[in-house]
Amino acid sequence: MSFRLQPAAPARPNRCQLFGPASNTKLFAKMAASAADVINIDLEDSVAPSDKDMARANAIEAINTVDWGTKTLSVRINGLDTPFWYRDVVDLLEQAGERLDQIMIPKVGCAGDIYAVDALVTAIEAAKGRTKRIDFEVIIESAAGIAHVEEIAAASARMVAMSLGAADFAASMGMQTTGIGGTQENYYMLRDGVKHWSDPWHWAQAAIVAACRTHGVLPVDGPFGDFSDDEGFRAQALRSATLGMVGKWAIHPKQIALANEVFTPSEAAVAEAREILAAMETAKANGEGATVYKGRLVDIASIKQAEVIVRQSELIAGS
Ligand code: COA
Ligand code: MG
Repeated sequence: MSFRLQPAAPARPNRCQLFGPASNTKLFAKMAASAADVINIDLEDSVAPSDKDMARANAIEAINTVDWGTKTLSVRINGLDTPFWYRDVVDLLEQAGERLDQIMIPKVGCAGDIYAVDALVTAIEAAKGRTKRIDFEVIIESAAGIAHVEEIAAASARMVAMSLGAADFAASMGMQTTGIGGTQENYYMLRDGVKHWSDPWHWAQAAIVAACRTHGVLPVDGPFGDFSDDEGFRAQALRSATLGMVGKWAIHPKQIALANEVFTPSEAAVAEAREILAAMETAKANGEGATVYKGRLVDIASIKQAEVIVRQSELIAGS
């Protein structure tokens, strides 16, 4: 470890973030009753421009009246390039009660975007005497966002989570695809005439994980558009989990159980992690820093790897 220690990310389950448009009020009770850890009421791109005022009022009403249980409750505001975002922040912070946990800022491009929202939120919190600090989560979904990902992760003490938004990201990057996440037909390596598909989202995901882990922020995989394709969702989510992401969005209730399954460490994985920890305890008692577990090397780094899995499992079990 560097002299500067890596801060811990918030200790909360974030396996699935369920989205629903704030213009569709009949979804609120269903979202609240779902098994998602995080609820994202959307004011942005699933709401038509003509519906923005109505959607904002619906969101405030829902925050104040629906029983959201122990879920993390978040509202996605409009982007800073729109005429809507300041009113989203002002009305939410002035009219929504303390049940609101965080706001999601889409399409962030630099730390200054966070600074602007932070200044407004801080002023309203003080003016209104709000006692619970509103947290921020952001979406990295542009070339600027990924280019400045580390300064964004470090931009505010309010920062708790960061998601990759595949669709806007692809558009901003000029990627030749209309798919929202997942395998892309033309992204393959050819060997002996056989195609091997690769992962065009990998670099952005790894960059987000690194920025988040450096600054104690939760890295999250965003939407998977084809909600009829369970195996495609599972494959994408498994890759994200392997890279260090803690959860994934659901844009349809079908995807909640899939995300919860993938981002909850399996019993087998937890059992193996505990065995590695036990093997290292024995090694330590024998004055050794390394030992053999099932024919492979485990050493002091293995303790940290195993602890990631055990901690995640305990966090979810305790939630
Ligand atoms: N949250 C909770 N419940 C939802 C839901 C959601 N996001 N989306 C659909 N449902 C419910 C439906 O109301 C329906 O309930 P019912 O069985 O009681 O009638 C059931 O799940 C099945 O829905 P289905 O008919 O398959 O879908 P739909 O045509 O009603 O809606 C979408 C499809 C994609 C329009 C809808 O899922 C949706 O709005 N998703 C979120 C979009 C969003 O927020 N995008 C922004 C982030 S990318
Ligand atoms: Mg987007």
